Amino acid sequence: MSKLALHGGPKTIGEGTNFKSSWPRKGLERALCEYTGAQFAKCVTSGTAALTSSLYAAGCGPGDEVITVAYTWVATVGSILRVNAVPIFADIDPQTLTIDVDDVKRKITPRTKAILPVDFYGHPAAIPELMEIAAKHNLLVIEDACQASTAEINGQKVGSIAHLTAFSWSGKPIYSSHGGGAYLTNDRRLYERGLLMGQHPTVIQGLAEDPDILQYASMGGTGDNTRAVGMDSAMEQLMDADARTNARIRNCEYLTEKLADVPGITPPFVRPGYKHVYHYYTCLWDPDEYGVSRDRFCAALNAEGVYAVAYINDANYQFSPESKRLQAGGPIHLRTIFQERNLYGKGCPFLCPHVENPPVYSKGDLPVSEAMAEREFCIVQPYLSPPNDERDMQLMVDAIVKIVDNIGELEG
Ligand SMILES: Cc1ncc(COP(=O)(O)O)c(C=O)c1O
Repeated sequence: MSKLALHGGPKTIGEGTNFKSSWPRKGLERALCEYTGAQFAKCVTSGTAALTSSLYAAGCGPGDEVITVAYTWVATVGSILRVNAVPIFADIDPQTLTIDVDDVKRKITPRTKAILPVDFYGHPAAIPELMEIAAKHNLLVIEDACQASTAEINGQKVGSIAHLTAFSWSGKPIYSSHGGGAYLTNDRRLYERGLLMGQHPTVIQGLAEDPDILQYASMGGTGDNTRAVGMDSAMEQLMDADARTNARIRNCEYLTEKLADVPGITPPFVRPGYKHVYHYYTCLWDPDEYGVSRDRFCAALNAEGVYAVAYINDANYQFSPESKRLQAGGPIHLRTIFQERNLYGKGCPFLCPHVENPPVYSKGDLPVSEAMAEREFCIVQPYLSPPNDERDMQLMVDAIVKIVDNIGELEG
């Protein structure tokens, strides 16, 4: 009987040996597939990396148009620029604050390669309708679920519905306090092509089968590094993600029930069949109801101890040529880069020779996005999540009702 394991002898380190790995990616990737129902998942360094890997996987590059929203966090749009494709903005639906499907139809051209909807504030975009449009026009749908990785549509988890889906766990309610992300897909070819965006050749070699992919693996795909490390904590949090998500939903539903009858405030809309996971709890303020601006109302709310932001304005800064400082912005199509259309100093990717019909980005293009940016206010984490419960939610309701009852103090 041979002694060497190579020749069938006993292994020195057997299957059950508990060697700790600092790269438990595979466990998390498997867990993400089990959790979402997606067939493939690749952990990467961030949600942004998950988006760029997905866009690269979808073959988006110079001259290709990708339809997305200007009502989002900048990384959605930045990832399109990163692959040198051209962002084309569709407006949003005024209720869900996610991409307007009819406007997507209007924006499709022969140059459109992909649609990149965002599950904004935790409410999934209309992915089933977008998949139908994509099938008709031979496009791919890349879902930015960075704010909604536990959301569902008609009982199906996001991550398993679109052609590609991006998750993030940097400071998100489900996976708090770590960087990291993943892209998910049911399509082996897309999965393998995404690896080329930033995985090491040894990683690609272990995961890809297609010779067309393997032949480009030798320099580490595009030479980027999007390799994920240290995902243990995200793995742990995935284990009770649904319980924590559902507790947050209960808190938010309590807020909605209590705020439903407060004049001037429209609580978040939830489309039937859609599981809104409340990355933020976003209401609309009607400035005409009391003659008080949203910003004044928010300032009063903050003073009462409820941290609320106008996300699209406050989280998306714009450079002011007058003050030479960053100031509140608005939807992304109004940013300097889209006005100048010149990312590298040579006009690319907006005006390069591959672009047949350079888009013009103007104020007034996206009336719903522009109007909602002036009306929304968002109650943010960690207020909404457990261990906070109904008593904490009631305190926030009390603060809002107190302001409305004393609105005269804010007028003028
Ligand atoms: C909608 C959206 N997309 C993409 C990202 C990018 O994720 P990350 O910060 O992990 O790169 C974020 C981050 O907050 C986001 O909110």
